[in-house]
Amino acid sequence: MKLAILGAGSVGSTLGRAWAKQGHTIIFGVRDVNAPKIQTLLMELGENAQAATLAEAATQAETIVLTVTWDAMPDVVEAIDNLDGKILLDCTNPLVANQLDAALNLAQSGGEQVAAWFPGAKVVKVLNQVGWETMADPQYGAEVATMFYAGDDAGAKQIASQLVTELGFEAIDAGSLQASKFLESIAVFWGQLAYGQGLGRNIAWQLLKR
Ligand SMILES: NC(=O)c1ccc[n+]([C@@H]2O[C@H](COP(=O)([O-])OP(=O)(O)OC[C@H]3O[C@@H](n4cnc5c(N)ncnc54)[C@H](OP(=O)(O)O)[C@@H]3O)[C@@H](O)[C@H]2O)c1
Repeated sequence: MKLAILGAGSVGSTLGRAWAKQGHTIIFGVRDVNAPKIQTLLMELGENAQAATLAEAATQAETIVLTVTWDAMPDVVEAIDNLDGKILLDCTNPLVANQLDAALNLAQSGGEQVAAWFPGAKVVKVLNQVGWETMADPQYGAEVATMFYAGDDAGAKQIASQLVTELGFEAIDAGSLQASKFLESIAVFWGQLAYGQGLGRNIAWQLLKR
């Protein structure tokens, strides 16, 4: 699959690395294609990875993965005309002034805000609930971490589930895009445990069923 990953920071580079290893073609959409850290990443990933502007990357792929910081979103919306008909996997968390709990006071979830910015896109909220370290390796001893996803388009959710499963997670459908608010709350709680309670970043979620 051809995947445009907008942003190549901690999350974008981790996902690009993992999916390139699975044989997907990665096009990183970045502000500065020639930045040394981008060139180093491309060298590492080899022939399965390229970099382009945000707009070019979004044009070249049918599945787009959003991994920029929340405060970058106005620039991303400005740079990209539309994402009509495309799958948009939203990994962001709406951290206002980098405050974890401010996200919970927004009038609508970040996932729904992203859908409002790109009305023609099939948005799925996913890969926002744990740190990038767990995205790189969701295996905890004999257990695998759970990753929830939420969206309104069945086909887009199928792709999200497949890509998350390829990373090594157990993928669980959390419902419609409205459920983004729950997935963003989980991210806030992850931060509270990791930083507030000092558990550190190598913590993840697992859904138990019987
Ligand atoms: N870090 C985690 O463990 C984690 C886990 C789950 C979800 N998230 C969410 O994932 C998103 C990315 O987090 P991250 O930790 O990967 O952040 P990061 O390492 O700081 O990377 C952010 C990326 O956004 C780009 N960016 C920043 N401002 C921009 C702008 N104005 N226009 C275009 N691109 C811009 C950066 O480009 P430059 O390199 O050019 O600055 C970089 O590629 C955030 O929404 C975060 O809340 C993070």
